[in-house]
Amino acid sequence: MAELYIPEHVGIIMDGNGRWAKKRGLPRQVGHTYGAQTFRNITRYISKQGVKILTLYAFSTENWKRPAEEVGAIMKIFHQYLVDSLTDFRDDDIKVVFIGDRSAFSPNLIQLINETEEVAKNRKGMLLNIAMNYGGRDEILRAVKQICKDVQEHRSDIDSLTEKDIEKYLYTAHQPDPDLIIRTGGEHRLSNFLLYQAAYSEFYSVDTLWPDFKPKDFDRAIEEFNKRSRRFGGV
Ligand code: FPP
Repeated sequence: MAELYIPEHVGIIMDGNGRWAKKRGLPRQVGHTYGAQTFRNITRYISKQGVKILTLYAFSTENWKRPAEEVGAIMKIFHQYLVDSLTDFRDDDIKVVFIGDRSAFSPNLIQLINETEEVAKNRKGMLLNIAMNYGGRDEILRAVKQICKDVQEHRSDIDSLTEKDIEKYLYTAHQPDPDLIIRTGGEHRLSNFLLYQAAYSEFYSVDTLWPDFKPKDFDRAIEEFNKRSRRFGGV
């Protein structure tokens, strides 16, 4: 079989933690705990496959609507994960950054987020974007506001603005767009993930629930990606 092309930037919508727990008669938050384990294992595996950028959707701007108990449990998991992540991924040389509006988190969590980025900032391996309190529309709104300010204060000129300029205002500034977006849990929608950046991403949905997602499932997504013909609007 011909060598498979490994996409440069992969995004993953980690869905199905709640259903995974429900199937086992467990509280939803137990699914998130197992989901966090998958998060670590899969990140390591993907970095070894040669992917340059991995963006994982951990918590959306809409996820605050969930019951307070579940949101609280997710925040606890993030907190624990971040404490561990100060050393996690070091051996794999993975650089960790957070995309999204971190101002909504507790001061403690914000401090941990900042520290995690700081300890990882000189690493040269895969870039891991963790999308937390991230929403594609919120990201675009934030970019529009910043562009308006720059125009008002004469740092930018309306008539010469290009699509490339808009990219510079996104959380993912200077990163290539995702080539492949994987969604676990069987749904076929983007759910506000990387709306601007996903214009020409290949979308791959798999029924597997996130806690069950294994390296072989990722390999399957890559095989499927290799069968796609990407034309970017051309012929
Ligand atoms: C999706 O499943 C998962 C979430 C909305 C949140 C949490 C994600 C994790 C805990 C993964 C680990 C991330 C980090 C940064 C450690 P769902 O609850 O929407 O599942 P359902 O569709 O079955 O209800």
